[in-house]
Amino acid sequence: MALRALLRPITAATTRSNKMTSTPITAVMRKQPSSDMAAFREVFKNAKHVVALTGAGISAESGVPTFRGAGGFWRRYNAQDIATPGAFLANPSLVWEFYSYRRDLVLSKKPNPAHIALAEAEKRLADDDRRLVVITQNIDELHKDAGTKNLYELHGTLFKTRCTKCGSINENRDSPICPALAGKGSPDPDAEDARVVEGELPRCKKCTGLLRPHVVWFGESLDPDVLMNAQKELDSCDLCLVIGTSSVVYPAAMFAPEVSARGVPVAEFNIESTSGTETFGFHFEGPCGSTLPKALHP
Ligand SMILES: NC(=O)c1ccc[n+]([C@@H]2O[C@H](COP(=O)([O-])OP(=O)(O)OC[C@H]3O[C@@H](n4cnc5c(N)ncnc54)[C@H](O)[C@@H]3O)[C@@H](O)[C@H]2O)c1
Ligand SMILES: [Zn+2]
Repeated sequence: MALRALLRPITAATTRSNKMTSTPITAVMRKQPSSDMAAFREVFKNAKHVVALTGAGISAESGVPTFRGAGGFWRRYNAQDIATPGAFLANPSLVWEFYSYRRDLVLSKKPNPAHIALAEAEKRLADDDRRLVVITQNIDELHKDAGTKNLYELHGTLFKTRCTKCGSINENRDSPICPALAGKGSPDPDAEDARVVEGELPRCKKCTGLLRPHVVWFGESLDPDVLMNAQKELDSCDLCLVIGTSSVVYPAAMFAPEVSARGVPVAEFNIESTSGTETFGFHFEGPCGSTLPKALHP
């Protein structure tokens, strides 16, 4: 079931077979995606309810690295191995060092023209009784910084903490997040692990329990309310944009193919083809900081 879906990386082969089972006829009959911007703008002009699915690629031009390629490593570790409950259980100091580094990195970054184009389009469409919603896999809050209001953060955010004991969730943009992590978290492969004792890691103000980042780690379930609301938007949209995501992490990976199977136009904005490209109506290749403002301008 969708609500129980886990956040798990899958291979391109699995992605393809998943699509084959859900959309066998359309997948076979579909033409190559179009890159005709004028045709896309005509569809956009007539859309009443637009859903934009965004991934790490939309923040790449802001200077936040994606998990594919060189940006996927921190010290000697694969970032995806650190973003797991098992890693936190085994070594909370190491996981907090990684998140402390990512928080500080993101705090120094600003939304780019792609984030801004979405926020401006949302305002403009609202004035016209139309709706634009962003469903993001990103945890960097750059959509919020750009002014997006209709926002679902599927994987949580770097700037909230959750208590592992009492469950309380709080906003937190402190840098450093606690004195013991000041100056720690260097991504240098030769950097020594800080080995901060648990008592000196971020602690809950209410119950002194150990805090963790309020993000969804690999192997964890998504918040069922966020997922249900995102699914409702997808079920009723009449245009879907897929921006800067490699479409290999479930459940987000199945969203756009589902919408496409309903016969709703899907437009992909990416620097390369993905495993989803051939099922979409439009594909605009290039950095989305350039392609998206052109696609969405008034
Ligand atoms: N900024 C962030 O918050 C951030 C950063 C890294 C990873 N993550 C997490 O990593 C997981 C991986 O999923 P993902 O699919 O979002 O990211 P990903 O790293 O798997 O893929 C990024 C995609 O963006 C594309 N891309 C790169 N630069 C681009 C640009 N300038 N314009 C358009 N497209 C560009 C790449 O071709 C790739 O398809 C998610 O769970 C996400 O939460 C988040
Ligand atoms: Zn607590």
